[in-house]
Amino acid sequence: MTVPPPPPGGRKWKVAVLGATGAVGQTFIRLLANHPWFELSEVAASQRSAGKRYTDAARWLEGEMPPVVANMQVVSCDPSEVKATIVFSALDSGVAGDIEEAFAKAGKIVLSNARNFRMAPDVPLVIPEVNADHLGLIDRQRVERGWTGAIVTNANCAATVAAVALAPLHQRYGLDKLFLTTMQAVSGAGYPGVASLDILGNVIPYIADEEPKLEREIRKLLGRLEDGAIVNGSFEVSAQTNRVAVEHGHTVCIAASFHDHPTPDQALAALREWKGDESTFSLPSRPEHPIAVTHSADRPQPRRDVDAGAGMTVTVGRVREDPILDLRMVALGHNMIRGAAGGSVLNAELLAVTGRLPAA
Ligand SMILES: NC(=O)c1ccc[n+]([C@@H]2O[C@H](COP(=O)([O-])OP(=O)(O)OC[C@H]3O[C@@H](n4cnc5c(N)ncnc54)[C@H](OP(=O)(O)O)[C@@H]3O)[C@@H](O)[C@H]2O)c1
Repeated sequence: MTVPPPPPGGRKWKVAVLGATGAVGQTFIRLLANHPWFELSEVAASQRSAGKRYTDAARWLEGEMPPVVANMQVVSCDPSEVKATIVFSALDSGVAGDIEEAFAKAGKIVLSNARNFRMAPDVPLVIPEVNADHLGLIDRQRVERGWTGAIVTNANCAATVAAVALAPLHQRYGLDKLFLTTMQAVSGAGYPGVASLDILGNVIPYIADEEPKLEREIRKLLGRLEDGAIVNGSFEVSAQTNRVAVEHGHTVCIAASFHDHPTPDQALAALREWKGDESTFSLPSRPEHPIAVTHSADRPQPRRDVDAGAGMTVTVGRVREDPILDLRMVALGHNMIRGAAGGSVLNAELLAVTGRLPAA
């Protein structure tokens, strides 16, 4: 087992989780409980939970609750009640906008999972291996909004899976047209989420607001930072999203054409060779392989592949010629880890190695 690198600067940063009682909040807690650079020191949620012990406020969903959090008192999501400068937000999007803004105004670095700020022109939407340089938007954000804090977002869970799988191909061959069809796990809807009688043995061909989110976020994720602004990827994209009876793991069926028309063998080589941005190589949550290529005819599958790279690897398979466009393929990633809490923790690690966190 490799020993994780010590925190840059030598001391761990104290961090808080907002929305700590929800599905993504709990994943944050599992990932932060033994993190080599961050120490979970506070948990916050709604007034329904504030004042309670965490163990009484949260319905713990998976495995054992880490002892470090069980007796913490949940505080409300008010910047004057949270001491940590670094806060991970797993807040419901209905409330995330105002709360995250208040934290950034109070000088906190907010790592958000919510959709509210993702498309703001001065807010980075980051997958570190794909677009680490987009963090440069923070300088513009601070000037334009007049705050010393920052908001850094990670993308919609299905957009994240698609963007990781497509980044090596877009970088080498230039995406032109893109069709995405998703099969998304129930955990993507939070807890209690979709009613069991609606989803058991069923497929629901609608997820509210998901298709436009995918279509706009993937163009920003695969865009370029130029003169302090993101130039979106200029490709056309059409998305269809479905909720399926799978616990964790979003599957994305991709059909795409490219300006330089790669063959399936060229695409496979690009996917295998891609290591992602160099600045991520020493990050503790970065998987050794951001993309794993499978050659099995019947994979990737959520049951077999969702935990690849501790939930941070996107597995890509069925790379083949498309009779209408150039290529088709299937990508799978863990929506709660790579697509949510794990992605946010990786973003915070990137802030740390690029000197963008205050001293611990
Ligand atoms: N699930 C995924 O795969 C996924 C992936 C990417 C992004 N996201 C995004 O991540 C966020 C969290 O999703 P989730 O699935 O974890 O949802 P969830 O299970 O419904 O959890 C929502 C959290 O928000 C808190 N909250 C609700 N109203 C609040 C208020 N008025 N003030 C303060 N806190 C409040 C809840 O606290 P109480 O328990 O006290 O009510 C709970 O901790 C959402 O924005 C979602 O879109 C989710």
